[in-house]
Amino acid sequence: MNIHTKKKIGVLVSGGGTNLQALLDAEKRGDLKSGTISVVISSKPDVFALERAKKAGVEGICVDRKSFKTKENFEEALHHTLTERNVDVLVLAGFMLVLSDNFIKQYPDRIINVHPALIPSFCGDGFYGLKVHERALEYGVKVTGATVHFVNEVTDGGAIILQRAVDIPEGISPQGLQQLVMEKAEHILLPQATELLCADRLQRDGRRVIIQ
Ligand code: GAR
Repeated sequence: MNIHTKKKIGVLVSGGGTNLQALLDAEKRGDLKSGTISVVISSKPDVFALERAKKAGVEGICVDRKSFKTKENFEEALHHTLTERNVDVLVLAGFMLVLSDNFIKQYPDRIINVHPALIPSFCGDGFYGLKVHERALEYGVKVTGATVHFVNEVTDGGAIILQRAVDIPEGISPQGLQQLVMEKAEHILLPQATELLCADRLQRDGRRVIIQ
């Protein structure tokens, strides 16, 4: 695909950025070919994800949530940064803030998120990062996984694009499970879903997403 017809991807992060790395690697390999990662925006300063962007030669910016009085002000700055760069699609890759309805409406079916569990299990408000894996282990489920979904006004409630299951080994720690789910599911699904979105291969039939 010609560079001029590729979708411009903005990746939103808040931490270590292993999912961002999976996206950068996929673009380098040519698996992510219908879009190009144009900008990485972090909601926190000094996160390793920004180092990863720099190393890959991608613009990395911090729009620090803490430096804005209100969520509205933060989202205005975020939107401004994205529109200035003509970003077409947004990928939330370990982004730890919940975006408002008003913000989401500006990108209809153009924001996706990776969640480290099989939605509708272990998701919603309060379920993020390591907490998700702690809850899964506490509950005693034998299988977990990851989900990539469209972002809507309900936390982790948007239509599901891709899911992958991961068996939980006996005696694994929450940290071990987090690594396993990242490696066996998230880092595979997120680049795949991003490519499908950028290639306009995701069709909506109500809540169902049909892959063309
Ligand atoms: C990932 O496991 C991601 O799925 C999760 O945080 C981790 C970020 O890691 N995201 C959420 O829980 C959002 N609800 P990373 O910064 O190494 O990609």
